[in-house]
Amino acid sequence: MNSQEFIEMNKKGWNDLIKANKPFSNTILPEYGPFLKRNEDDINILNNVKGAKILDMGCGEGGSLEYLYNKGALEIWGIDISEEQIKKAKSKFPQFKDNFIVGPMESEINIPNNYFDYIISIFSIGYTSDLYKTLLNANKYLKEDGSLVISWTHPFYYCLGVVDDKVVVSKSYFDENSEIITKGPDKVNLAQKNLMISTIINTATEAGFYVEKMYEEETIMKDDVNGYKSNFWKKEKTINCPSTIIIKFRKLN
Ligand SMILES: C[S@@+](CC[C@H](N)C(=O)[O-])C[C@H]1O[C@@H](n2cnc3c(N)ncnc32)[C@H](O)[C@@H]1O
Repeated sequence: MNSQEFIEMNKKGWNDLIKANKPFSNTILPEYGPFLKRNEDDINILNNVKGAKILDMGCGEGGSLEYLYNKGALEIWGIDISEEQIKKAKSKFPQFKDNFIVGPMESEINIPNNYFDYIISIFSIGYTSDLYKTLLNANKYLKEDGSLVISWTHPFYYCLGVVDDKVVVSKSYFDENSEIITKGPDKVNLAQKNLMISTIINTATEAGFYVEKMYEEETIMKDDVNGYKSNFWKKEKTINCPSTIIIKFRKLN
């Protein structure tokens, strides 16, 4: 699948999901990912939000930005590939409606450079067709010393399966090819990549970041997400491996 096909599949998929009113599963701040015991209120990764300018890459309907705005952020911006979700974000924040932009985060987009204190991307980064271009863009938009915080499915969790109640490695950790997954009860197609942790860190370094801190948080032992039982988010797996990886990067000066 080439980049254009990858982007088109995800644009359609996310528009369909939002039209069908399928809620996200714990991927909106203060939550960093499914089943985590601690959230932003507990960990305080974004520790200086008051008065901050914040951009969300893959902002959805703006739920994470709403949380940060309520905590005192001064200015909020969002990019999302899905026009349906951007419509909802704009109606949530009429005062910032010009700051919500439809487009892929890996493309050149008219967003101010050297401007943001924080960029967040909560469970969206694995949907980019080009991690390097996405991180270069983030680096360009951030102020000197600004932070980028990403969360995504833990790359090792992604490789685990369950057979007869036993956890097995069902996919190679080394396989970084794009893959079509289905999401939610309606089985909407989405394309994503499971990148190795070293790929994420090394790509970020090449794009001008260093790692300030990485989090592999414990999970609670549940096996449904808001009442929906998934084949992917399973108690047997979350007992053995973090569901989510969270990385806080800083822009290199
Ligand atoms: C799990 S949701 C994240 C929700 C978000 N964290 C929030 O606070 O609501 C993933 C989002 O990534 C968006 N997305 C997928 N591919 C994208 C891309 N290439 N560029 C920008 N957004 C993208 C989807 O439209 C969707 O809104």
